[in-house]
Amino acid sequence: MRRFDTYCVLITGAGQGIGEATAHRFATEGARVLVTDRDPSRAERVAEAIRNEGGSAEPYGCDVADPAAVVAAVERAVDRFGTLDVLVNNAYASTGDPVRFEEYDDDSWYLDFDICLHGAYRCIRAALPHLAAAGGRGAVVNIGSVNAERFLGGHAYSAAKAGLASLTRTLAVQCAPRGVRVNIVEPGTVRTNAWAGRGDALEHLKDHYPLGRVGEPADIAAAVVFLASRDAAWITGVTLPVDGGLLVSNLGMNRSLLEQ
Ligand SMILES: NC(=O)c1ccc[n+]([C@@H]2O[C@H](COP(=O)([O-])OP(=O)(O)OC[C@H]3O[C@@H](n4cnc5c(N)ncnc54)[C@H](O)[C@@H]3O)[C@@H](O)[C@H]2O)c1
Repeated sequence: MRRFDTYCVLITGAGQGIGEATAHRFATEGARVLVTDRDPSRAERVAEAIRNEGGSAEPYGCDVADPAAVVAAVERAVDRFGTLDVLVNNAYASTGDPVRFEEYDDDSWYLDFDICLHGAYRCIRAALPHLAAAGGRGAVVNIGSVNAERFLGGHAYSAAKAGLASLTRTLAVQCAPRGVRVNIVEPGTVRTNAWAGRGDALEHLKDHYPLGRVGEPADIAAAVVFLASRDAAWITGVTLPVDGGLLVSNLGMNRSLLEQ
């Protein structure tokens, strides 16, 4: 018996990157996965790859900014697989960060909140009755960021992710009596298309990581499936950095000290 046999998992933004790796990992461990993404062709590609590997997956186009689409995605999961046990809030979009704070315009400021925070809120609201009916297996895993904890650029993104970490804690307490656990993973820099067009940024950033490299999507997927599994049955409301030691280090300052 694999850890997620008979489970149904819905992942947002699963058409590439961390969501894609997480979908594959859940499927490998027996889950039936609703692979959702704003871009349906991405969701289709991932679901097909999982099925070609012998897993169970179905694609579904879902923009987490659209409340009706979110409700429809949750209903699709339950109609198709008969249950919804795990929700992973992973979708991400950002217009980037102006260099000067006062250069933000409202649209770019609100985008981070609408996708990273309000998108998760919409998904949890729609999924909760089903997660609570999952006989104690219900789990939400939010994908946050180390940006929620430290200054690393991206004011709107960082504030939205900090909001998501707070929502994780408050919901964890309120959902516990209903048998639903709520946790958040905070990745450091991960090699995905989110970094496309940033030159060799990842090559430079690795020098800030005590473990000597940036993350791979599979590093995050491993933590997500752990928090969603029965192995984490007594864990709720936690923030788990998966960051190669970034948050506990300050290698730049350490280097300066060594150079004195
Ligand atoms: N890559 C990193 O370095 C990094 C670091 C910290 C946290 N994270 C977090 O990990 C998560 C995944 O990041 P990634 O690097 O895999 O991103 P990515 O850009 O590679 O993939 C994001 C996916 O979300 C989809 N998407 C965008 N807007 C959407 C919407 N409105 N509704 C549904 N889907 C939508 C995109 O189509 C895309 O397939 C995000 O929550 C991100 O904030 C990433």
